[in-house]
Amino acid sequence: MTVYCLGSINADHVYSVPHLPAPGETLAATALSQGLGGKGANQSVAAARAGARVVHVGAVGADGAWAVEQLAAFGVETSHVARVGHPTGHAIINVAPDGENSIVILPGANARQDTGRIAAVLAEAGPDDTLLLQNETSHQSEAAALAAEHGLRVVYSAAPFEIGALSAVLPHVSLLVLNAVEAGQMGAALGPVEGPEIIVTDGARGARWRFGGQTLSVPAFPVMPVDTTGAGDCFIGSLVGALDRRLSRADALRYAAAAAALQVTRPGTADAMPARAEVEAFLARA
Ligand code: RIB
Repeated sequence: MTVYCLGSINADHVYSVPHLPAPGETLAATALSQGLGGKGANQSVAAARAGARVVHVGAVGADGAWAVEQLAAFGVETSHVARVGHPTGHAIINVAPDGENSIVILPGANARQDTGRIAAVLAEAGPDDTLLLQNETSHQSEAAALAAEHGLRVVYSAAPFEIGALSAVLPHVSLLVLNAVEAGQMGAALGPVEGPEIIVTDGARGARWRFGGQTLSVPAFPVMPVDTTGAGDCFIGSLVGALDRRLSRADALRYAAAAAALQVTRPGTADAMPARAEVEAFLARA
């Protein structure tokens, strides 16, 4: 059982700011930290820390060796991360004292995926495996179609939200994960969506999983956030890792909510993903 993640790899530049900047405002940051990020890399790390075998499929530039080394140090297999002639993706992230953030990304190498390489990787995969996708790389819809053909479970996090990308991937998706804002945008554009199972995360209000006419809900665990960047990635990666270990939907949802609660109490993105033992200890105390 393997989780294949076609996903972005970014250098995150995280500025601590007194508040999120308004249009036209210049702000002095109080601190800067840098580290591994990208929704794809974050989700791969979260799934690996939840106990899954994770193969990351992605691309970095000549400046990205450190990012690949960090992914590998978190236990993610990186032999399918290509080196391309474009700079590694990067993100400028502002984090306010209440943990809220705003993010600007420059995709760079993330937009240079290669369908031949994706097809070669997925040729190794089968029905026990999962393909995990987000919206920060090129070629998600081709990857989703191929994976569905090979019988993989296709899990798609529709972030950053873009209706064209969502519509192209949707026919191949087994499990769609959105936040409440994205779910509203999808509903406004497409009306009710039938087909995939759907999870909607709603911050402090918890998460709902709709499947086969049923709905499972999990409340959010109350914590004091210091940085919410990557919380959605933590939720999704942890969920996929837990499902890969054959946890039930209810247990996987609770595991993912606990992992995300722990993640927001720490600064950083990939670096802040909790290990399985930490999540299980947290759940035992909850
Ligand atoms: O979801 C958080 C991530 O979004 C950051 O790590 C940043 O790189 C952007 O991709």
